[in-house]
Amino acid sequence: MCGIVGYIGTKKASPILINGLIRLEYRGYDSAGISTVEKNGLSLMKDMGRVKNLYNLKGIDDLEGTIGIAHTRWATHGKPSKENSHPHMDNSKTFSVVHNGIIENYNELRKFLTDNGYTFYSQTDTEVIPNLIHYYYKKETNSDISRLLKAVQKACLDLIGSFALEILCCDFPDNMIVVRKDSPLVIGKGSDECYISSDIPAILSFTRDFYLLKDYEFVLLQRGSAKFYDKDLNEIDKETTTIEWDASSSEKNGYDDYMLKEIYEQPIAIRETIGSRINSNSKTEFDELNFTKEYLSSVNKIYFVACGTAMHAALVGKNLMEKLCRISSEVDIASEFRYRDPLVDKNSLCIFISQSGETADTIAALKLSKEKGAKTISISNVIGSSLTREADYSIYTHAGPEIAVASTKAYTSQVTLLSVLAIYFSEILELNSDLINKLKSELLELPKKIETTLTLADKIKDFAMQVYQEKDMFFLGRGIDEAVAKEAALKLKEISYIHAESYAAGELKHGAIALIENDVTVITVMTDSKLVEKTVSNIQEVATRGAKTLVVTNQDIDCNLFDKVIHIPEVHPYLAPIISVIPLQLFAYYISKEKGLDVDKPRNLAKSVTVE
Ligand code: AGP
Repeated sequence: MCGIVGYIGTKKASPILINGLIRLEYRGYDSAGISTVEKNGLSLMKDMGRVKNLYNLKGIDDLEGTIGIAHTRWATHGKPSKENSHPHMDNSKTFSVVHNGIIENYNELRKFLTDNGYTFYSQTDTEVIPNLIHYYYKKETNSDISRLLKAVQKACLDLIGSFALEILCCDFPDNMIVVRKDSPLVIGKGSDECYISSDIPAILSFTRDFYLLKDYEFVLLQRGSAKFYDKDLNEIDKETTTIEWDASSSEKNGYDDYMLKEIYEQPIAIRETIGSRINSNSKTEFDELNFTKEYLSSVNKIYFVACGTAMHAALVGKNLMEKLCRISSEVDIASEFRYRDPLVDKNSLCIFISQSGETADTIAALKLSKEKGAKTISISNVIGSSLTREADYSIYTHAGPEIAVASTKAYTSQVTLLSVLAIYFSEILELNSDLINKLKSELLELPKKIETTLTLADKIKDFAMQVYQEKDMFFLGRGIDEAVAKEAALKLKEISYIHAESYAAGELKHGAIALIENDVTVITVMTDSKLVEKTVSNIQEVATRGAKTLVVTNQDIDCNLFDKVIHIPEVHPYLAPIISVIPLQLFAYYISKEKGLDVDKPRNLAKSVTVE
């Protein structure tokens, strides 16, 4: 986690850096700090809490430097405090460093450096980095820039773990060095300037041309130039990639919060994700994939691996793959996958889903699957993200930047893409052709139906106002609806801090029904006609015990049986999750707003979890 940003050019750096930090705050907001190259050396300003504390610091406006680095922190090693805030400097104050990632061997390095006369002032793992650079820097005899490069390289080779680093050195005031390993970092190229950031949206208003770095590529930045070096410091060529995202897509555009904006962007996100892949009159196309009937028939199992909301999208993917393609499928939580010795082999197809493409657990699971000989596909929303660089095949959702910590449009785009993928496989396998044609035409109608669903916002808000003070809620569903119940419960928990549980509707009576008492809210998703009767009975079981019931459905049911019914548009049950989740995203949103919470930046969370 943590967000880092940097600037080297001809403009005053501090406003650019602070602006970048504000955009990266979703990655962590325990503290923020900045370091710039000033006439009298390296400046260092930092404080606990949000970026606004930093820009309120006395003297921040006086920073004149046109080169600088900055950091917003999600604490891992060392509590949130001023001392533990980044940037960190070495003892001699020659180097200033910001770091995103975790240095696993920091204890050994700290001991080594302490034995060599260095003192530590924070509890962070990061503080070893500037001091280790200094240690090697002292040993280099030459006085040109290669001294700095070599010292940084040697220090990085000693680090075990993950890092994205920006480094300033007061002896080379016109330079900055950046490098990454297993943590995200991009460089945006301007005409005579470069912008550095943990993600693309934070600097999209400055440029659309990006250098995407591989692990251990060292970059020496000077005003107007960027030189790239491999792990052994051989100079290498690097091309820029142009990112098609519109700069305004990372603004709030008049909405109160990014989350609300992103909920309302779902029709366009789904339309873009389907793109030209689905055509009613021809076969589904995936330019990125080249699978044959022979290959797909040889797949013994599909493993979907992901975390959080992306894992909930995977649950829908599994359902579709099994139903449409008859390929046995499993869903794994990425952080568990590696440690359960999964039976993955060369006949397995492993699909990794991650909005950011930077989730450490998901990346680690992908690496393991490759080692075991499986074919791997990544599904991500971020072009060139780490996950996509590791996978055999990469396919993208086209949701546009998702800034709110709580994922909304990325989830529905992932489910959409998984539906398109299942249809594509099914066509190759020559299965279910009538059903496939129906699903294809229904997919193309989805954006309109989502627009209709969004018009239900006021009704959902009314119900949210009735229950926002509750402590616990339950979400139920059967079949594919249970996956949506899980996602709805997660959404409510993460932004409203209300305890929420999701259950397969038929499972509640095996224990958890003991928790149902007067006025407990039970929300049920019901979109499959084959499961309606049984699910209605399950709701009755809780209603008779005093529960307040909300139902999200497109089925013909007796509304008198429930406290509130939200009618969503009719859609094939296999595609229903893309619609039925939307009222529940809004439900969580309105509750969070009513409670006066920070919807976009819920406590303790960060948007992309780059630590295992
Ligand atoms: C969703 O609202 C969460 N913020 C979280 O569960 C998220 O989906 C998870 O951390 C995975 O992130 P990724 O898609 O970027 O890998």
